[in-house]
Amino acid sequence: MTHPPLLFCGNSNPQLAEEIAKRLRLHVGKALVSEFKNEETRVEIRENVRGAEVFVLQSICKTPNGKGVNDSVMELLLMIDALRRASAARITAVIPYYGYAKQDKKTKGREPISAKVVSNLLKVTGARRIVTMDLHAAQIQGFFDIPVDNLMAMPVLCGHLKKEGLCDDKIVVVSPDAGGVHRAELFAKWLNSSLAIAFKRRPEPDVSEVTDIVGDVNGKVAVIVDDMISTGGTLAKAAEAIKARGATRVYTVASHGIFAGEAVEVLEASEIEKVLFTNTIPFRNGQTHPKFVQLSIAQTFADAINRITTNRSVSELFAGDDAINTMLTAPTEPLAPV
Ligand code: R5P
Repeated sequence: MTHPPLLFCGNSNPQLAEEIAKRLRLHVGKALVSEFKNEETRVEIRENVRGAEVFVLQSICKTPNGKGVNDSVMELLLMIDALRRASAARITAVIPYYGYAKQDKKTKGREPISAKVVSNLLKVTGARRIVTMDLHAAQIQGFFDIPVDNLMAMPVLCGHLKKEGLCDDKIVVVSPDAGGVHRAELFAKWLNSSLAIAFKRRPEPDVSEVTDIVGDVNGKVAVIVDDMISTGGTLAKAAEAIKARGATRVYTVASHGIFAGEAVEVLEASEIEKVLFTNTIPFRNGQTHPKFVQLSIAQTFADAINRITTNRSVSELFAGDDAINTMLTAPTEPLAPV
């Protein structure tokens, strides 16, 4: 490949694309990603991509300009198709938040496996590699027969907690459900803290209840760790149960802040002191809110893209104590103006 790498983006997260491009000393490629009057998605790539290594960044989420999750999927697919037909040499879909992941298995009859449908579409359209972050279930990697780099927000989130002095025996890391124990264990390891687990029940979709907590939270600052915040119910209910067991303060961290429906209001009214999350998904068009802290993961994606273009290991970014410690101590300033 003689052409330098190119980075394009759809409408879901242009700010993150700009941040990554700046770190890689690239510009975001020129492309029209809009719609026809009949609301069909319209795409035109406005740069030569022949023979180029191309990265297309798009989170599968609502867009800051008011489009829905399905529009994000369609924009991504049509951009990949346009790039393939324009003779790009290799197309990598960079999907900071891989949506449609909640239905990743059949839990009862006559349900789809939506995460697999999206993976099929990406592959068929022409993606030759996926770069994403904290998949809802790591096994979703297996839905692809192309390379998947599943990056972690953990070093950025832990780095911020450490800087705030939220580590060691002062805190207890809490998983809000059994499915999140592995993630919480990693946080507990890097924060040098103890671990507790809340047991969650979902009587119906998007509604949660805490049935029990295992581990000691009494007299400690609790840090609840989750992959995503959707309705905010999981974190709000876990915080209530933890406070009732004697925790002095409750912080929450999550990789992806979806904030569906009334989530911000739910969390605002909850026992939680601070809600930390990253910019894999834009937060309410950059509105400010004292309880909500958004951290940038642009450097993690920039490092991964840099390694891919130079055929170096991506997993080494997270391998071993030295690598993680380097990331833990890297600057993780909150994004202005949040
Ligand atoms: C569940 O498996 C996930 O890890 C999250 O806990 C969940 O998706 C959060 O959803 P909500 O904010 O709607 O409770």
